[in-house]
Amino acid sequence: RTVYVNGDYLPEDQAKVSIFDRGFLFADGVYEVTSVLDGKLIDFAGHAKRLQRSMDELDMTAAIDMDELLEIHRELVRVNDITDGLIYLQVTRGAADRDFLYPAEDTPPTVVLFTQAKPGLADSPMAETGMKVVTIPDRRWGRRDIKTVQLLYPSMGKMEAKAQGADDAWMVEEGAVTEGTSNNAYIVKDGVIVTRHLGEEILHGITRKAVLAFAREAQMKVDERAFTVEEALAADEAFVTSASSFVMPVVSIDGQQIGTGTPGKTVARLREIYLEEMR
Ligand code: PDD
Repeated sequence: RTVYVNGDYLPEDQAKVSIFDRGFLFADGVYEVTSVLDGKLIDFAGHAKRLQRSMDELDMTAAIDMDELLEIHRELVRVNDITDGLIYLQVTRGAADRDFLYPAEDTPPTVVLFTQAKPGLADSPMAETGMKVVTIPDRRWGRRDIKTVQLLYPSMGKMEAKAQGADDAWMVEEGAVTEGTSNNAYIVKDGVIVTRHLGEEILHGITRKAVLAFAREAQMKVDERAFTVEEALAADEAFVTSASSFVMPVVSIDGQQIGTGTPGKTVARLREIYLEEMR
């Protein structure tokens, strides 16, 4: 695999970053994951915009040329011959001797990109079977709208889900679901799609934005508000969205079946519309 590091395209085993990188020492970095279907990037503009926002919120002043970033994404898709897969992009505040204070503003950022081939990404069997989730308390920090590389808690959440024989965890704060470990969470009740409103408590999903726009265009009702675990358990349908899973049905929560226990028709329709419109 060929990867990108700070201006160079290299074989992955030759790519190096400093042990003093602030991404490594302080999780002082931001990232994006963009999907590729049939060799085409899905919603790059949305990811580029959110990357800039994450950097601005953290006072990361390095100038990132988004047109150049798009070219790097395309080049990696080309050289690695990616048909379906993901592109991971990470930008950190760069390398400097360990100090809690940020380094000088002219410290060059570390920019890393790599591809992950995922043949048949849009034909995941999970779209037919649906996924099982468990609920866990949301113990992340308070600025979840910034896409930082601080992913230990979501990683612990996935492990907990796996230990319980489930596929993912939904995080809960003050009785309400915030989001999944790496996706936005939704329920459908009496034809209304409910998903948590935007704020600092959740990541502003790029897929979420597109899916809600398509839902409204299709005259579906959308309610952006917090919902409780009890509401979710009594819902007709449940699902998640993310760049890597698109729109994915959830069929059980904490071992309790949702609706019929099979993927619902709203989620199936949204997945179909999303994939049709975006690819
Ligand atoms: N995760 N919420 C969280 C906490 C996420 O990490 C993600 C994305 C999302 C969905 O956002 P989007 O639709 O822009 O992908 C919501 C990526 C895919 C990841 O960490 O792999």
